[in-house]
Amino acid sequence: MSITETAIASAEAHSAHNYHPLPVVVASAEGAWMTDVEGRRYLDLLAGYSALNFGHGNRRLIDAAKAQLDRVTLTSRAFHHDRFAEFCAELAALCGMETVLPMNTGAEAVETAVKTARKWGYRVKGVPDGMAKIIVASDNFHGRTTTIVSFSTDPEARADFGPYTPGFEIVPYGDLTAMREAMTENTVAVLIEPIQGEAGVLVPPAGYLPGVRELTRERNVLFIADEIQSGLGRTGKTFALEHEGVVPDVYLLGKALGGGVVPVSAVVSSADVLGVFRPGEHGSTFGGNPLACAVALEVIAMLRTGEYQQRAAELGDHLHRELGLLTGGGAVEAVRGRGLWAGVDIAPALGTGRDISERLLEQGVLVKDTHGSTIRIAPPLVISKEDLDWGLDRLRAVLKG
Ligand SMILES: Cc1ncc(COP(=O)(O)O)c(C=O)c1O
Repeated sequence: MSITETAIASAEAHSAHNYHPLPVVVASAEGAWMTDVEGRRYLDLLAGYSALNFGHGNRRLIDAAKAQLDRVTLTSRAFHHDRFAEFCAELAALCGMETVLPMNTGAEAVETAVKTARKWGYRVKGVPDGMAKIIVASDNFHGRTTTIVSFSTDPEARADFGPYTPGFEIVPYGDLTAMREAMTENTVAVLIEPIQGEAGVLVPPAGYLPGVRELTRERNVLFIADEIQSGLGRTGKTFALEHEGVVPDVYLLGKALGGGVVPVSAVVSSADVLGVFRPGEHGSTFGGNPLACAVALEVIAMLRTGEYQQRAAELGDHLHRELGLLTGGGAVEAVRGRGLWAGVDIAPALGTGRDISERLLEQGVLVKDTHGSTIRIAPPLVISKEDLDWGLDRLRAVLKG
């Protein structure tokens, strides 16, 4: 067996099989490139599902982490620490909001938002106890906890994990009329992704997101935008909602907020909304820890310049132009997305998304499939145009067969 095969067999022997990774074992990485245990190099066109927007081993982020490692890494929220206030203030300012509730993973931010919306519904909106409803969209992906999979429409994510948490209404993504009809006096929030990543980088019809904004405002319902994957530069703006000129009531952030170094997530909103929490009602041992704050502060500083957003916009235009040329030739059925983020529907006759991903792996390119014959392309925003073009060449070669 090769070193790679031995490593994979050993991982499979001792880990739960809740993932089906591509057969590559990464040993190191820098920028947009990863190197495996046998010294082969791969162009990373996945970027840790957008957790690595700033690339592998980003110097500024690694230096910020190293400096903080030597000072203090964890206090728990039992005590104050000297990076916390700055982190909350800077993140709130980046979002144009007032208040931050830090957590660790994306799913925790979503769970926190569900609790926030329910409590806001009971305490502020006046919804009768136990009656709060949250509207979500079909084909959503918000994480893996029991409550979150309760409102998933993906049978694989849901089956055998019941009993399910009640209190959610699922409406078709992109359908404003269905959302309006689903709304009642007990609706406390709408929770949606501005672009559905896991569903295949689905961009909703123009006007949908402003429509959701108007409807939620009219009906005194919180608009919770899950920007965990779409946010922080990926689409060419700090937030995907900016493309539609929309500001939600609540942002959910994660992934890139931790710079691919540490898990950092947050719920960001107004003081009125997040003000519903009292001590003891919610928390996390690691949420808002000094190391997380130090890295996230650097991420925020990098986003403040607009440089990464601009890069994503420019390279994204190039990516979509090139991918657009592939449609019509039979191999690619559709391309969607915004900025450096694309869902590419490959003609099923050429293989599943997994088949294509494996063939790209052999060519030195790492992507990940979603459902069916779709692959998604989301390179680190620091990728060079030359490297992106090289990756696109490899894709063209694979599609030619
Ligand atoms: C939109 C969105 N929300 C939430 C999550 C969950 O984040 P995590 O895996 O950090 O729990 C993801 C992860 O892919 C996501 O894409």
